[in-house]
Amino acid sequence: MKCFVTGGAGFIGSTMVDKLLENSNNQVTVFDNFCSGQEEFIKHHFSDKRFNLIKGDLLNAEIVKKSMVGHDLVFHFAANPDIAKAMTQTDIDLKLGVDATYNLLEAMRLSGVNKIVFSSGSGVYGNVGLVETAEDFGPLIPVSMYGACKLAAESIISAFCHMFDMKSWIFRFANVVGTRQTHGVGFDFIKKLRADKSKLFILGDGKQSKSYIHVSDVLGAIDFAINNTNSTVNIFNAATDDYISVREIADIVIDVMGLKSVKYEYSGGDKGWKGDIPVVRFNLNKIHKLGWRAKLSSHEAIRQSITEMLSLKLTKKQT
Ligand SMILES: NC(=O)c1ccc[n+]([C@@H]2O[C@H](COP(=O)([O-])OP(=O)(O)OC[C@H]3O[C@@H](n4cnc5c(N)ncnc54)[C@H](O)[C@@H]3O)[C@@H](O)[C@H]2O)c1
Repeated sequence: MKCFVTGGAGFIGSTMVDKLLENSNNQVTVFDNFCSGQEEFIKHHFSDKRFNLIKGDLLNAEIVKKSMVGHDLVFHFAANPDIAKAMTQTDIDLKLGVDATYNLLEAMRLSGVNKIVFSSGSGVYGNVGLVETAEDFGPLIPVSMYGACKLAAESIISAFCHMFDMKSWIFRFANVVGTRQTHGVGFDFIKKLRADKSKLFILGDGKQSKSYIHVSDVLGAIDFAINNTNSTVNIFNAATDDYISVREIADIVIDVMGLKSVKYEYSGGDKGWKGDIPVVRFNLNKIHKLGWRAKLSSHEAIRQSITEMLSLKLTKKQT
């Protein structure tokens, strides 16, 4: 299988590349502009003949078209990962989420590449509190440009699939954690506590409660779903069965770092930032019925990812 991985130098994308290259039948092209991706995450593949790196921007339609020829399957991970960024750069998700996805689909259409896996998120559901959202939940009222543009990208993928005989697997992931994450609450807490071990500044009131899925489970869910479903558009929530609060995450980080008497300070309010969704609840019946379940709970995933991040030699962009 010749796989084209956008955002393949990022956290989730590079972990997927490792997994794909474990199979000797696979070849992988990473397409990344390194705006948040890191060479560090993929350089161990540089000598592998089955690995090809294209440093390019998805906003450059011509490069995407040229690069796409000859592939079988696209994994689309490239996006703006920072939800809060749209407060100051209001078109960032429109460009990196919508325009980039259109360029990718158009390149696929022109090259006859007809399968795409897309990493969407819970942001498409909007702020619905304790309601457990299933894949057919509606109305979908996103509260951030990130969520709105994920929803727009899902819609454009669906339209291309129906108009041009393509197939898609769209995953609405919980917060993803793991060794190479370069953003997110656990990552942020480690960074703050390394700078000052006496106190921890927490965005919001610490009661925000969400699911955190380990990246190994994300790869497992993708692998499982693409091998067991075959509709034109296959949409799945992928999350853990449990939830964890930001305050509990802080407690775990402090425990794993072996710190004592850390004073918590809160910015206040129920949200971490404008566009944040403080309570996220997934209905996972669809993917559970199919036979997939996350191996690690949110609590286990957070503890494991904190341990992994602490043991990783920090690279420039992470410090
Ligand atoms: N991390 C999470 O908690 C989470 C949860 C749900 C969904 N997702 C989605 O999963 C995907 C991967 O997230 P991640 O956490 O690995 O983020 P990341 O920032 O580590 O990876 C994104 C990658 O895309 C690349 N990129 C961005 N814009 C590009 C462009 N125009 N052209 C080429 N490359 C470009 C970046 O350089 C980076 O390597 C994103 O689509 C994100 O929205 C992430």
